[in-house]
Amino acid sequence: MIIMSQMKKDAGYLAAGEVKDGQILGLGTGSTTHYFIEAVGKRVASEGIEVMGIPTSYQSFLLAKAANIPVTTLDEHEIDLAVDGADEIDPKFNLIKGGGAAHTLEKIVDYSAKEFIVIADSSKLVDTLGAFPLPVEIIPESVTPVMKALKDMGGVPEIRMGQLKDGPVITDNGNFILDVAFSAIENPIHMEKDLNAIPGVVENGLFTEMVDKVIIGFEDGARFI
Ligand code: A5P
Repeated sequence: MIIMSQMKKDAGYLAAGEVKDGQILGLGTGSTTHYFIEAVGKRVASEGIEVMGIPTSYQSFLLAKAANIPVTTLDEHEIDLAVDGADEIDPKFNLIKGGGAAHTLEKIVDYSAKEFIVIADSSKLVDTLGAFPLPVEIIPESVTPVMKALKDMGGVPEIRMGQLKDGPVITDNGNFILDVAFSAIENPIHMEKDLNAIPGVVENGLFTEMVDKVIIGFEDGARFI
């Protein structure tokens, strides 16, 4: 029985093989993109490819530095290829993201890329989105009205609490995260827009109609699906 981290690693390393010399890369966040960044760093060291990365979090910024991948910004460069993880992937390649509270910058980076590849282990494949509570980043002062609006939409929101930190998780942008349980998300395309229309919502973790390719790590290796 292959362990989950090997499936993530296989997916990350296969994606790194897609990177072309000279590209500007969107660097996603999470335990799977960790392997992608590591593998790109190895190609920089062994093949001498020249790439630059645009991180989606402090985590991917630090990983890029450790892998000797120069970092840049959206002000200076356009992204050729973004590679990012996911918490759920449906058959139409709509996603739930934000398990690591980084989905706002991830969405900015991933949606602006010329190509967007998602990497994940096979446990992330679902028929319908929604078993994973949907992360919603909000302005802290808006917590009461936003929670009411989410309940009116049929959700059950909870403020994400810190581990080894008292009180709420504070995102890289200084905001709160609400994890919102829905029985199922039947229309993710509409819901992505509807959630962002609530005053106080910064960004939600639904990523719809934007993914170009998906690489899944299975027990017998990683492949495009
Ligand atoms: C970060 O906030 C998330 O969007 C991650 O990309 C997502 O949770 C996938 O993370 P793992 O690769 O760790 O499963």
